[in-house]
Amino acid sequence: MQPQLQPTRAIRELTDELISQIAAGEVVERPASVVRELVDNALDAGATQINVRLLAGGVRLISVEDNGAGIPPNELPIALKRHATSKIVDLHELESVGTMGFRGEALAAIVSVSELSIFSRTADQDSATLLNARSGELQAAARSVGTTVEVKELFYSTPARRKFLKTDATELAHCVEAVRRHALTRPHVGFAIWHEGKLVEQWRAQNPGDAQETQIDRRLADVLGEDFLRDSVAVHYQSGNFTVYGRAGLPDTARSRGDQQFAYVNGRFIRDKVISHAARAAYEDVLHGHRQPVYALFIEVDPARVDVNVHPTKIEVRFRDGREVHQAVLHAIENALAAPRSAAAAALDSLGETDFAIGANAVKPPTTNVTPSANNWAQRDWQQANMPLAGDTARSLEILWQHKPSSGLAAQEDTREALKSFATPNTETQQQWPLGKAIAQLHGIYILAENAQGLVLVDMHAAHERIVYEQLKTQMDAQSLNSQPLLIPATFQATAHEIATAEHCADTLLALGLEISALSANSLAIRAVPIHLARGDVVALARSVLAELAQHEASTVLARARNELLATMACHSAVRANRHLTLDEMNALLRQMEVTERSDQCNHGRPTWRQLSLRELDALFLRGR
Ligand SMILES: Nc1ncnc2c1ncn2[C@@H]1O[C@H](COP(=O)(O)OP(=O)(O)OP(=O)(O)O)[C@@H](O)[C@H]1O
Ligand SMILES: [Mg+2]
Repeated sequence: MQPQLQPTRAIRELTDELISQIAAGEVVERPASVVRELVDNALDAGATQINVRLLAGGVRLISVEDNGAGIPPNELPIALKRHATSKIVDLHELESVGTMGFRGEALAAIVSVSELSIFSRTADQDSATLLNARSGELQAAARSVGTTVEVKELFYSTPARRKFLKTDATELAHCVEAVRRHALTRPHVGFAIWHEGKLVEQWRAQNPGDAQETQIDRRLADVLGEDFLRDSVAVHYQSGNFTVYGRAGLPDTARSRGDQQFAYVNGRFIRDKVISHAARAAYEDVLHGHRQPVYALFIEVDPARVDVNVHPTKIEVRFRDGREVHQAVLHAIENALAAPRSAAAAALDSLGETDFAIGANAVKPPTTNVTPSANNWAQRDWQQANMPLAGDTARSLEILWQHKPSSGLAAQEDTREALKSFATPNTETQQQWPLGKAIAQLHGIYILAENAQGLVLVDMHAAHERIVYEQLKTQMDAQSLNSQPLLIPATFQATAHEIATAEHCADTLLALGLEISALSANSLAIRAVPIHLARGDVVALARSVLAELAQHEASTVLARARNELLATMACHSAVRANRHLTLDEMNALLRQMEVTERSDQCNHGRPTWRQLSLRELDALFLRGR
């Protein structure tokens, strides 16, 4: 985000009325708060290079030097006054503020707890002016256009507060974090941090001529590491009043702490419950337990729709419509995570761009900019255009699984029948299949496949479970979860509790495609099941769903419990371990994975496939050394 300040405006004292509107409070808690405020000011002044120098974790010295617009000499003393600002003049401007600062408080607050001096020079002046805050003296000094603020001996007059500070190393870490937060969202600004004369961090300015997304990606890689970029997918979403972009970490990279969650609103780093809740919800289907996702999200919204004047340190904001921002963030991340990476990888591979060195996670996400709502369809279109046979194969898979044998001879008959319509893929197209050509099954658990990059390993039960689950969800969303009446109802001995649940939740069961009714005082009859699941063990399925429903009790919770119920159903119908699959069945499963959303994770958030590259295989055998 570029600063929206007109640098020519004078610093003026705010009216009392406006002062009373401003969220006041403790601004300076520790050295990092000073760093944040001074960097805010430098950014507002349009700086493209900001250098931070610290001594003793910032307690002895914080110096922030910028190449921004500078402050005219006559305004220097006003800058240090409380409620003096060049950034807003009236309430109207406060309501749509686009700069980091607006209260005219930061410098005054810092002056009151430290020894402060400012050197500044505007483009109109031949030399710089130095203001010593304690003496109030102005004198000529030498420096180029821009401003340097030096803050020495923080809390010197309030030893009690100084005692609350942690070690220099800890305070330094907080200062670096404060600059890092700014740096992530300002790729066109260069930052450097020195501590005790040593360069601690340096992030060079990105070329302003590059696309914004490229600049952001490079800056994210510089600040958070190449791994972050490699293990995340691009977020790009536009809806109504919101634009959401940035990157969302792959589910595998979730952490036990939420320390890699960066959210920005109009270039301001914030902590916001609505946003973090929306992000967590977006991962719900691919991340289980208490793992914390990793993300850097940049939200742009008309400044008039968000109130930044709610917290003294501006770390919180209030949205005019919280629901709207929740939806935007949720959909932005969901869309980004939905596309199977196998397909994305192939898209890049066909451009000769991929390096699949380190397993599935090394597969880079697509760099193409698809509009989110069209995302999934774009993915499918791509599939169809590039892999003409894959679509046919996927359809054959449906036939296959519908004829999924339960056991023995009948099973073989079924499979053979299904295979009649199975198109055997030609070798040329096999090369293009992201998950490759099946070559074997290992211990009844894994499918081994060969693709251009090397070896693909697939957990067949986990993968199939996700495919069935996604199908059930799609069908239920489209209200086409058709059930199939059973010619001979399946009956089973049931507990009084199960019978009560079946009666009580009959509507919910019907919505799930299950018709279950009491046959006697101690037995239930299953009369219909979803078409998809008709071949599985319907009794086990019914029992699990009833048990789950009993926990969730009323049918009113269907919306909330829906995904859990569908997951239970999917688990029952997914191909079991130890079932022998033919190569054609394995290939069909691979093709289906390539076109199924979220197929990279099983329903419990674990990966469904891994890539072992030829390079990794070579390394195993010390080849080429
Ligand atoms: N690095 C800088 N370059 C140019 N002008 C600056 C710089 N730092 C401060 N100023 C000027 O001094 C004024 C006061 O700064 P201060 O940080 O106290 O208040 P603010 O940024 O206006 O509001 P806030 O208290 O919300 O930060 C600013 O409005 C700005 O005009
Ligand atoms: Mg400020």
